[in-house]
Amino acid sequence: MTGKRTEAFDAIVLGAGAAGLMTALTAGQRGKRILVLEHNDEPGRKILISGGGRCNFTNIHVEARRFISSNPHFARSALARFTPASFLDMIAKHHIAWHEKTLGQLFCDGSARAILAMLLDECAAGDVTLRLSETIQDVRHNGRFTVKTDNGTFEAPALVLACGGLSIPKLGATGLAHRLAGQFGLPVVPLHPGLVPLRVQPDALEWMRDLAGVSLPVRVACGKVAFEEAMLFTHRGLSGPAILQISSYWRSGQPLLVDLLPGQDAFSSLRTARSSRSRAHGIAVLSDWLPRRLAELLGPKLLGEKAAGEWPDKLLRGAGAALKTWTITPEGSEGYVKAEVTTGGIDTHALSSRSMEATGVPGLYAVGEAVDVTGWLGGYNFQWAWASGHAAGEAI
Ligand code: FDA
Repeated sequence: MTGKRTEAFDAIVLGAGAAGLMTALTAGQRGKRILVLEHNDEPGRKILISGGGRCNFTNIHVEARRFISSNPHFARSALARFTPASFLDMIAKHHIAWHEKTLGQLFCDGSARAILAMLLDECAAGDVTLRLSETIQDVRHNGRFTVKTDNGTFEAPALVLACGGLSIPKLGATGLAHRLAGQFGLPVVPLHPGLVPLRVQPDALEWMRDLAGVSLPVRVACGKVAFEEAMLFTHRGLSGPAILQISSYWRSGQPLLVDLLPGQDAFSSLRTARSSRSRAHGIAVLSDWLPRRLAELLGPKLLGEKAAGEWPDKLLRGAGAALKTWTITPEGSEGYVKAEVTTGGIDTHALSSRSMEATGVPGLYAVGEAVDVTGWLGGYNFQWAWASGHAAGEAI
């Protein structure tokens, strides 16, 4: 017996990340007594490093199909009730300057710190109690939820699992949400690193050795899903937005189909070059369309040593096909140490899409990345954290 009194709240939120803070501030401002327990010694670490320190806090093109889930319609309700415009209202209230970078991605003009400061101010306005450096030892449910940490015991009729996924353990990821989901009988959709660079087989790596640092626009497809964005060759494989995007869909053993000349008919471009640049060699012709280092590698390989005027149609057909459908089967991903998100998570079939409450365990909520909803690259994951946190905060 420690002799310490059990402190009572209306809800206990586990995790002071984007989703946990949004849940807390929403419920707190509705007059609920909210406790947030965080094991790091500061809140919102991922917010601080996100978007290269400027936090890509939302995307104006939010729609359900840009979120991956085994239950594709689940996210619609929360996303419709807390939109990018809702978040922008909060940003405006706090005088945070922002800009659209590309593809609807909204970033702070200054530091991501402004977003965290805003969330903490809004939590303070709702009298939210935030306790940092709390190690959660035990969680029980006996009508009410009891959470024991090394500093005390807390109880409430509602518990919110907002402790994120497995990505970037050094920032605080632990998988607690999934363990607790298991404890309360909620199924968990298998977890995978998402938005993560991919590694390639040693023989492909040998071929690509001199390309590290080269970036080009591509269309990369895995099965029926495709993204048209930049791809980057790295020392260990492939990265860049196109690869990060497709990595969330890719599963071990699946090939990726890379179109190195998206939007261009390679065969007909090569035929045109044959007549218009008949003295040029493969490297020079390909350099018109591809980064020089890649053209130097592919030119002799695909088009031989002869000048363009001597290229037969058959050669051009093969070269065109190789440029349009470069097929590579990654060896694996860089894993959770490098993954921006975790795909999979608490099965949404067990949650209410309106409130994020577990249908079989009244009072238990799950929000943010802990849930089987993963956004595309570009501000979608924060928008899910805000929207799901808001939905739970309104319902508690
Ligand atoms: P999040 O992981 O943010 O928070 C969970 C909290 O729970 C953490 O504070 C953690 O310490 C705590 N916790 C975990 N285990 C615990 C335990 N056992 N006890 C107590 N507390 C515990 N998205 C986007 O939309 N735009 C962007 O610009 C970026 N950029 C970006 C960069 C990098 C490097 C990464 C890794 C990720 C991004 N993301 C992103 C993704 C985004 O950061 C992510 O989707 C959200 O932070 C998820 O919010 P959550 O609150 O669900 O989890």
